[in-house]
Amino acid sequence: MRPDARGYFGDFGGRFVPEVLIAALGELEIAMEAAFADPAFWLEYETILQHFVGRPSPVYRADRYAAGISSVPFALKREDLNHTGAHKINNTVGQALLARRMGKRRIIAETGAGQHGVATATVGAKFGIPVDVYMGALDVERQALNVYIMNLLGANVHAVSGGTRTLKDATNEAFRQWAARVEDTFYVIGSVVGAHPYPYMVREFQKIIGIEARRQCLEQFGRLPTDVVACVGGGSNAIGIFAGFIDDAAVRLWGVEAAGEGLESGRTAAALGAGSVGVLHGSRSYLLQTERGQVQDTHSISAGLDYPGVGPEHAFLKQSGRATYVPVTDDEALDAFFAFARAEGIVPALESAHAIAFARTLARERSKDDLILVNLSGRGDKDINQVRELRR
Ligand SMILES: Cc1ncc(COP(=O)(O)O)c(C=O)c1O
Repeated sequence: MRPDARGYFGDFGGRFVPEVLIAALGELEIAMEAAFADPAFWLEYETILQHFVGRPSPVYRADRYAAGISSVPFALKREDLNHTGAHKINNTVGQALLARRMGKRRIIAETGAGQHGVATATVGAKFGIPVDVYMGALDVERQALNVYIMNLLGANVHAVSGGTRTLKDATNEAFRQWAARVEDTFYVIGSVVGAHPYPYMVREFQKIIGIEARRQCLEQFGRLPTDVVACVGGGSNAIGIFAGFIDDAAVRLWGVEAAGEGLESGRTAAALGAGSVGVLHGSRSYLLQTERGQVQDTHSISAGLDYPGVGPEHAFLKQSGRATYVPVTDDEALDAFFAFARAEGIVPALESAHAIAFARTLARERSKDDLILVNLSGRGDKDINQVRELRR
């Protein structure tokens, strides 16, 4: 589905930004439409994804994790095997190509887990465009390895110390920096959030996940999955894999949000499960807010899911009933992290561990005639120090 002319998916989306950014978003939209209509643009994007990123990422059957619970076949879309270790690189390649096409001389980005920051620093180095990354000071601590890698790749990382010192605050700062230098700066947003056209544009760069996965399931299993499961922070890996199956009405789509310490605990990051409709970072969607409309502080064990909002297309998919959104707590995700590593020989990102945790619950309700496909959005190297501290 395309958003309407004003950038809405049903009731959600739009362009709620200060005047100075309206023109910048208009300029971006025109450049994006021209690029999307240009086969040479997509050819270059696909060539880079193939030779630099390592696509197509495999779909891999991994039955040991759910064994003993169910005989349902279990498959993983291996975005963890991408260069830089997560799905984020698909999107940054696309946006960096656009930045170059638009003649922008500087790239800025926000990052939570650091995966988007690393992916942006990577394409900045590859295309020779200087990169400034904004990151919450708490995430700078939690994701020290990724900060080091970003610096190694030549990016400047700015620790943002306001608010909860996490992704929301980093995003606020990136918007401020963009407004201050719109003429020469391209803002690479890391998820399907922000003002139109970002949610649509980022989905178009991430839908490669779902297009590949659909083809691979048909080739390898001779059928489509019955269930597709992905974690939801802002929602880009989920919308990317959902996009491949959205027209297959029989395929159930599951988005897994970070419940943190529980939906009712007040320490959560589940915008669809515990939030309400409002405006955040330029678009209308679900977000965690107080009764007075202030953005609520969030919590998740996983930096990449620790965001108070969610992309507008997910709000629409929830409203229409096409996708179902479920919560997974910190403890459940951590248990899944260990169980999955032992069973499959793959250390998942803590974000992905949320999807894996729910998929095992779902497996109880499924049989050998079904097929559960989980988007393994990233690998867990970045989380090892944090997990080691938690389980000490
Ligand atoms: C490995 C991984 N998975 C998932 C996410 C969540 O982002 P999104 O919901 O946009 O896929 C992140 C964000 O940093 C991530 O690093």
